[in-house]
Amino acid sequence: MNGYKLPLLPPKAELETKPVLRQLAKSHRALAELKGYAATIPNKHMLINAVTINEAKDSSAIENIITTHDELYKAISQASYRNPAAKEVARYRTALWQGYEMVQGRQLLTANMIIDIQAIIEINRAGIRKLPGTVIQNETTGEVVYTPPIGEQRILKLMSNLEKYINDDRDGADPLIKMAVVHYQFESIHPFYDGNGRTGRIVNVLYLVLKELLDSPILYLSRYIIRKKTEYYNLLQEVRTQGKWEEWILFILKGVEETAEQTLAMAKSINAEMEAMAAEIRDKLPKMYTRDFMELLFFEFYTKIAYIEKGLGVARRTAVTYLEALEKEGFLVSEKLGKERIYQNKRLFDLVKAQEILKAEG
Ligand SMILES: Nc1ncnc2c1ncn2[C@@H]1O[C@H](COP(=O)(O)OP(=O)(O)OP(=O)(O)O)[C@@H](O)[C@H]1O
Ligand SMILES: [Mg+2]
Repeated sequence: MNGYKLPLLPPKAELETKPVLRQLAKSHRALAELKGYAATIPNKHMLINAVTINEAKDSSAIENIITTHDELYKAISQASYRNPAAKEVARYRTALWQGYEMVQGRQLLTANMIIDIQAIIEINRAGIRKLPGTVIQNETTGEVVYTPPIGEQRILKLMSNLEKYINDDRDGADPLIKMAVVHYQFESIHPFYDGNGRTGRIVNVLYLVLKELLDSPILYLSRYIIRKKTEYYNLLQEVRTQGKWEEWILFILKGVEETAEQTLAMAKSINAEMEAMAAEIRDKLPKMYTRDFMELLFFEFYTKIAYIEKGLGVARRTAVTYLEALEKEGFLVSEKLGKERIYQNKRLFDLVKAQEILKAEG
């Protein structure tokens, strides 16, 4: 048994069919609008943080690692916080950030980077599968629906073919179509014992950044996939068994369009909230208001005395006074976590929290 004989890329089928081209235009338009808007926001870091905290939560929920925003917040803001699920979700977010930095730094998305990303999510160095036994089962019946390729050498060969397809654009194919192909191929190679889904979902966004369809990692299909989980699994299988490339590509392209629209709406509301808060702070606490201070406050969902001390170059006492005044006015809510006091930017955090997963498909 060698598992499925997965063909190398590119796919033999004609991918740019009429329905695909029609949808492609819509998906590109929505994505370009998101990219354009994100470029104009003064504090991009906050937007990326807001989006990635939700993505870490949603993507991990597909794997049944469920945590709340509040637990996740604690795991992110405090290194020693103990809650295994929240920790694992926080690692997903770390993997995203590190993957983004790698892609930006090297302008490449390599098989080794993908291996590194999976290792961060799973905190182990098992790497590429060496032993047989990994299969994909039907979630309800337990029936084996797919046995991915077996043998380290074969998997490595498929991964290097995938790497070439990702980085070499001489084929002139559309990058969004290629993203759909890459996701199918990666999940079908299924190079790891576990974490293939989560790693593959991170690869999607890194690919968009690599191809400059986005400047920052802010578009994630996880929420769309959770809502359409059955269709997602079926289509992955039917590309293989029935050559349903067109349906698969349309599925992904629609996900891009829908998600880009939702993310744009969220980006706008985050930005509006930051502007509103800044104006209120200037009004209520004019003595401490500076643009630099606002930037520090809106960098993350939380801040610490030491960050303000360092960022503004003020004495610790002053930093404490500022934060206490902001808390008194209701802008921040503090909590002692471990040895430190953490100040949460409450309104922004609540806004991001409110973007809960829409109801899963019926
Ligand atoms: N029939 C199939 N063919 C190819 N890939 C599939 C098929 N069914 C599911 N998959 C992929 O396998 C992934 C699950 O693999 P794995 O358990 O290694 O990843 P995970 O990150 O732990 O899980 P999850 O995706 O549930 O979060 C799914 O997300 C999907 O992308
Ligand atoms: Mg798994």
